[in-house]
Amino acid sequence: MTSGYDEAYRAFQQAFAGYSDGSRLDHLRATDYERLDRLGHVYLDYTGGSLHAASQVRRHADLLLSTVLGNPHSDNPSSLDASRLVDRARASVLSFFNADPAEYDVIFTPNATGALKLVGEAYPFEPGGRLVLTYDNHNSVNGLREFARRRGAQVTYLPVLTPDLRVDGDAVLAELGQITRGKPHLFAFPAQSNFSGVQHPLAWIERAQQAGWQVILDAAAYVPTNRFDLSTVHPDFVSVSFYKMFGYPSGLGALIARHDALGTLRRPWFAGGTITVASVQDERWHHLASGHAGFEDGTVDYLGLPAVEIGLEHLSSIGIDAIHDRVMALTGWLLTRLTSATHSNGAPMARVFGPTGLDRRGATVAFHLMAPDGTAYEVGAIEDRANAARISLRTGCFCNPGDGEVAHGISKDAMAQCFAGPSVPVSFLDCAETLRASIGRAPNTLRASLGIASNFADVHTFVAFVETFRDLPFGSMLPR
Ligand SMILES: Cc1ncc(COP(=O)(O)O)c(C=O)c1O
Repeated sequence: MTSGYDEAYRAFQQAFAGYSDGSRLDHLRATDYERLDRLGHVYLDYTGGSLHAASQVRRHADLLLSTVLGNPHSDNPSSLDASRLVDRARASVLSFFNADPAEYDVIFTPNATGALKLVGEAYPFEPGGRLVLTYDNHNSVNGLREFARRRGAQVTYLPVLTPDLRVDGDAVLAELGQITRGKPHLFAFPAQSNFSGVQHPLAWIERAQQAGWQVILDAAAYVPTNRFDLSTVHPDFVSVSFYKMFGYPSGLGALIARHDALGTLRRPWFAGGTITVASVQDERWHHLASGHAGFEDGTVDYLGLPAVEIGLEHLSSIGIDAIHDRVMALTGWLLTRLTSATHSNGAPMARVFGPTGLDRRGATVAFHLMAPDGTAYEVGAIEDRANAARISLRTGCFCNPGDGEVAHGISKDAMAQCFAGPSVPVSFLDCAETLRASIGRAPNTLRASLGIASNFADVHTFVAFVETFRDLPFGSMLPR
């Protein structure tokens, strides 16, 4: 590395604590995640998906090669072995999140979306009941409103406010005070926005519950780099995707739910695996299994699930706090460099959407790169250049329309043009072009996010990439 790198590294270490030299994470980067450097990748999309360690895959392969595992819905030896491993995976999820098995159950799903849909389709929404959501939910949470609307519940959004893209806490508490007692009310918010990195107060959970609400907390973007302790907060429902936590396997998530909350859900159907007994001689005859079994449709991923226990053990062996401290130190340096970079004429080179400091935020940074005349370069053109440098950024809207609409100042009237009529199909590109006419550019955003294998060199390479745009006129960056 150059002396420029050494100097930057020294300055970084002086300014930000938590990134200890020679740490276990440095060692893992050089061993378990060595493919990143061998293949020359700068991976900056951990909020999209984390990366697996080589040792996770090896342990999983060893397990599969040393066992005979069959479909768990049986009592033969291979089936019982599979059931035992599935039970262990379930127990490991509860233990990782410090959840009391007497209070919480774990339902395995294909991903966080599957967890959210299980709640949405079974929640007893009805007229007089309410669904309140913050603007910065992922679309997989926003979709809950379709179930609520169809069943006559009132749907209300709480806006995020510029510049930090946070929700006004007083507005939240005021909204939660507005309920008809005796009706079901659900409050849905992300522990961390996958767009802005904003972390909302988890204290809202108890306040909402005291006011008569159930709470669904989307923890998908939060849990990969933050300690989440279900003995200190008690949301009714929590959604997670395991690949976002430890990369592998990529087809499993969970709904972690309080037993009492599960008991309030009414499943719209039954399936293999979810009933104790069903008959065809009267179409009304079936008994739903209690607890998680009643929610896991069909056969669970019994070969994949042991890899969840392995992944959680991997995270625990490093320590979620060590991962958190390291990525936050890196995020601090990244934010400082992005917000202080200027063109020779003094114009800022970047605009960060969301908090520019480390207070109440995670390691996800949304931004634009700006030309010397103050115009944002086309996101697609930046992505092309990043791709050429083997830097994996995320671009687009990140399935988070609320943060995007506020960050880009898109008015309701402008947005309405994409929804001229329910029968007119509008593609994402058509909508982006329509919005370009209103706000002067496509409403896309760039996102860099850090995770378990991130190191200073990754962020340094990215900052050096940003600096290649210094004094580059807008016109010289052709759109795709
Ligand atoms: C905050 C948040 N919630 C939910 C999801 C949906 O996760 P999945 O696609 O794994 O179902 C994502 C994915 O990016 C997310 O970031």
